[in-house]
Amino acid sequence: MRLRNKPWAVKLVNDHPESVLQNPDPSKKIDWRQRFAKPDQPISIEIGSGKGRFITTLAKEHPERNFVAIELQTTAAGIILRTKLTEQLDNLQILRGDALNINYFFAPHSIDHLYLNFSDPWPKARHEKRRLTYRAFLERYQAVLKSAGELEFKTDNAGLFAYSLQSFNNYGMIFDFVSVDLHHEAEEILNKNIETEYEHKFAERGNPIYAVHAHFVEE
Ligand SMILES: C[S@@+](CC[C@H](N)C(=O)[O-])C[C@H]1O[C@@H](n2cnc3c(N)ncnc32)[C@H](O)[C@@H]1O
Repeated sequence: MRLRNKPWAVKLVNDHPESVLQNPDPSKKIDWRQRFAKPDQPISIEIGSGKGRFITTLAKEHPERNFVAIELQTTAAGIILRTKLTEQLDNLQILRGDALNINYFFAPHSIDHLYLNFSDPWPKARHEKRRLTYRAFLERYQAVLKSAGELEFKTDNAGLFAYSLQSFNNYGMIFDFVSVDLHHEAEEILNKNIETEYEHKFAERGNPIYAVHAHFVEE
C-alpha cells in the first residue's frame, strides 16, 4: 500500500524527533529506555503499521506496556504521530525504517510481542523474499523476540496465510492459535481483537480474516 505523499505529515515527522526515529543508522545502538516515559515496561512492536489504528488502540488500552510502530512510509508515520500526539500516548514510539534491519534496531531477545497485520502479499514467486514472513525475516524476529515472545499475524490474503503457515512450520515455530475466520470465533477471542484499517475494510466486504499466533523454539 502506497499512501499519497502528505506534506503536513512529512513536516510533523521532521518536527518530532523525540517521537519518530527516521532511518536510524544500523551501526548505532538505539537507547529505547531513554525514549519512553516509563522505561521499565516491556516493549511490543508492529511491523508495517500503516495509519496506525491497531498500534495506537493497543497503546491506549495498555499504558503498562511500551510500543514501537515500524513503518517504511513517512506519510504513514506522520498519521500515526498525529494520533500519538492527540491521544498523548507516551508509551508509543515510531520508527520510520525497514523491518529488514530490525535486528539492528533492538537488542537481542528484548521484545515481548511482534505484530504483523495485513502485510503486503507480494504474490509473485520472484518476490517471495519481500514477504514479511519469509525465512530471512523470521531469523531477525527470532533474534529480537524474548524466548517466550509471541508473533501474531493477521491477513485477509489466503495465499499469504498459507505461505506464512508453511514458512513458520519449516522454521520450527510452535503454533499457539490459528483461525481461518477470526471474526466468527468465540466471544472471548473477538473481545480481545483490535481491528486494523485493512481488517475493517476487508471484513466489511465479508472476507474471512485469517490469524495465527506462534512462538520460536529457543535457540
Ligand atoms: C497493506 S499495509 C497494512 C497496514 C496496516 N497494518 C493495516 O492492517 O491496516 C502494509 C504496510 O506495511 C508497510 N511495510 C511494508 N514493508 C515494510 C517493511 N519492510 N518495513 C516496514 N514497513 C513495511 C507499508 O508501508 C504499509 O504501510
